[in-house]
Amino acid sequence: MVDLKTTYLGLKLKNPLVASPSPLSEKVENVKRLEEAGVSAVVMYSLFEEQILHESLELDHFLNQGTETYAEALSYLPDTGKYSLTPEKYLDHLRAIKRSVSIPVIGSLNGVSTGGWIKYAKKIEEAGADALELNIYFLPTNAGVISAELEDSYVTLVQDVRLQVKIPLAIKLSPFFTALPNLAKRLVEAGANGLVLFNRFYQPDFDLEQLEVVPNLVLSTSRELRLPMRWIAMLYGRVQADFALTSGVHTAEDALKAVMAGASVAMTTSALLKNGISKASEILKDMETWMEEHEYVSIQQMKGSMSQKAVAEPAAFERANYMKELSSYKDMP
Ligand SMILES: Cc1cc2nc3c(=O)[nH]c(=O)nc-3n(C[C@H](O)[C@H](O)[C@H](O)COP(=O)(O)O)c2cc1C
Repeated sequence: MVDLKTTYLGLKLKNPLVASPSPLSEKVENVKRLEEAGVSAVVMYSLFEEQILHESLELDHFLNQGTETYAEALSYLPDTGKYSLTPEKYLDHLRAIKRSVSIPVIGSLNGVSTGGWIKYAKKIEEAGADALELNIYFLPTNAGVISAELEDSYVTLVQDVRLQVKIPLAIKLSPFFTALPNLAKRLVEAGANGLVLFNRFYQPDFDLEQLEVVPNLVLSTSRELRLPMRWIAMLYGRVQADFALTSGVHTAEDALKAVMAGASVAMTTSALLKNGISKASEILKDMETWMEEHEYVSIQQMKGSMSQKAVAEPAAFERANYMKELSSYKDMP
C-alpha cells in the first residue's frame, strides 16, 4: 500500500488531488460526488470583487433614491452573467457545502484592488472555510503603469487580505510576470502560505460574421502542465510556501509530475468537466498503481524529487536548455 497523504496550507489531506474552482462546486450534490470520487479537498468557485461592488452599488442606490450616479457607476461593471449570485448567497452556499462534506473546503475570492470588498475574506472564514484562495487576475492596459507598481499592488492586496483572516491563505497567479521568483517571495512575506500556479489566461476570440469580440473558453489539455510544472520545480525549496499546481492535470502521470516538481497538491478542473467527476477516482487509482510499479512508498518521498534543486542537471530548467531543446527537434519533412 502506498501512502498518498500530503499537507497543503497546514491541512492534512488524504491525497494530493484537489478539485479547483469550477461550476462543479455550484451544486452541493456535485461536491458530495467529488468527495466520494476521492478528491482530498475542494476549492469553491470564486466570489468576484465585481459581484461585491455591484451589490454595494445597488444598496447605495436603494438608500439614495433619485441620485444620478447609479446607472453611470453600474456601467463600469461588467455583465457578470451567472456569477451575479449575491455575495450573501455565496456564503450560504459555502455553509451548505461545509455541512455536507467532511473534506476541507477552500473559499475563493477573485479580484485586483484592495478596498472594502475584501471584508468578504473574513466572512468566508466565518462561514467555515478551511482556507482561502485569492485569485488576483489583473490585465494592465495602461501604458503609464510600470511593472513594479503593479507588483506592489499585488503585495498590498495580499497584506490587506492577510489582516482580515487567520485561516491559511493561498494566492492564485497568472504566469505573466517579468520576475516571478521575486514576486513569489514578496507575496509570501506579505502573508501568503501557498501559491497556486497558474491561473489560465482566457483569451477572447473574434466572431468574423458578427464582428464581435466573444468569450470562448476552451478546456485545457495535459500540454498545459509544462508551464506551472517548470515554475514550481524552480521555486520549490527557494520560496517558503506550499505549491498547488493548476492547469493541465488530466491524468495520474500529470498529478505525479506536479508532486515531483514540488507541488503539495495537483488541482484539476478541465479533466472533471470533460470526463465527469468519476475521473478523479480513476486518476487516484492510476497514481497508486504507478507508484507501486515504480516502488515509491509515499507522496512525501516523491515530493520535489524533480525540482531544480534536486535534479542532476539544474540548467535543464534555464536558458541553457533553450538551444538544446531547439536542436533536439528531428521530425523534418
Ligand atoms: C468553467 C470554468 C470556471 C472556472 N471558474 C473559476 C473560478 O471561479 N475561480 C478560479 O479561481 N478559477 C476558476 N476556473 C479555473 C480553474 O479552477 C483552473 O485553475 C483552470 O481551469 C486550470 O486547470 P485545468 O487545466 O485543470 O482546467 C474555472 C475554470 C473553468 C473551466
